Amino acid sequence: MENNLNTMMPRIGDQAPDFKALTTIGELTFSEYNKSNWVILFSHPADFTPVCTTEMSGFATQGDFWKEHQTKLLGLSIDSIHAHIAWVNAVNEKTGVLFDFPIIADLDMKIAKLYGMLQPGESETAAVRAVFFIDPTGKIRLIMYYPLNIGRNMEEIKRVLIALQTSDEHKVAMPLNWMPGDKVIVPAPKTLEALEERKNSNLEMVDWYLAKKSL
Ligand code: BEZ
Repeated sequence: MENNLNTMMPRIGDQAPDFKALTTIGELTFSEYNKSNWVILFSHPADFTPVCTTEMSGFATQGDFWKEHQTKLLGLSIDSIHAHIAWVNAVNEKTGVLFDFPIIADLDMKIAKLYGMLQPGESETAAVRAVFFIDPTGKIRLIMYYPLNIGRNMEEIKRVLIALQTSDEHKVAMPLNWMPGDKVIVPAPKTLEALEERKNSNLEMVDWYLAKKSL
């Protein structure tokens, strides 16, 4: 049932709703930030909390990976900009890890509501752990939601980003448990002629509609 907290939940394939936000690097317009690169927009429930600190540190220590994959990070929580700055500074002083990507201060919950990050059965005041993978055209390509008490898996976040980018580049699909370097699925033939071509190809074929190849 819909309610006033999440009537506009974006879905896979939707254009990512644009917004202006106050962040730890100043005011930011999402569509500008998203120009010519992927964006991972993700929420955490609250600053100065343990699971969130481990997750943010996980994102922050993968800087070379995000660069290599033309991806910018954008965090969000329903906290003030002062809380964000104090938390970033405290973690940096304690651990040497700097959250060097912008974090949105969404005190009025506008963006959390816009993206369905507020899920009232879980919390009416804190965002769940959402992750939106948004491609350079601004389209939402994959969404993850985790509850407040379970941290996300950085290896899975990196894996699906590589999978999306590889799928786009080679027009292929990824099978169960696909990892970079594994064989990929070639789309099924759409004509009888293409089926005959496939029969004579050196694809690894389980059946005519399920064929794999190495990249
Ligand atoms: C945490 O990050 O540790 C946390 C935040 C909100 C609720 C529960 C756990």
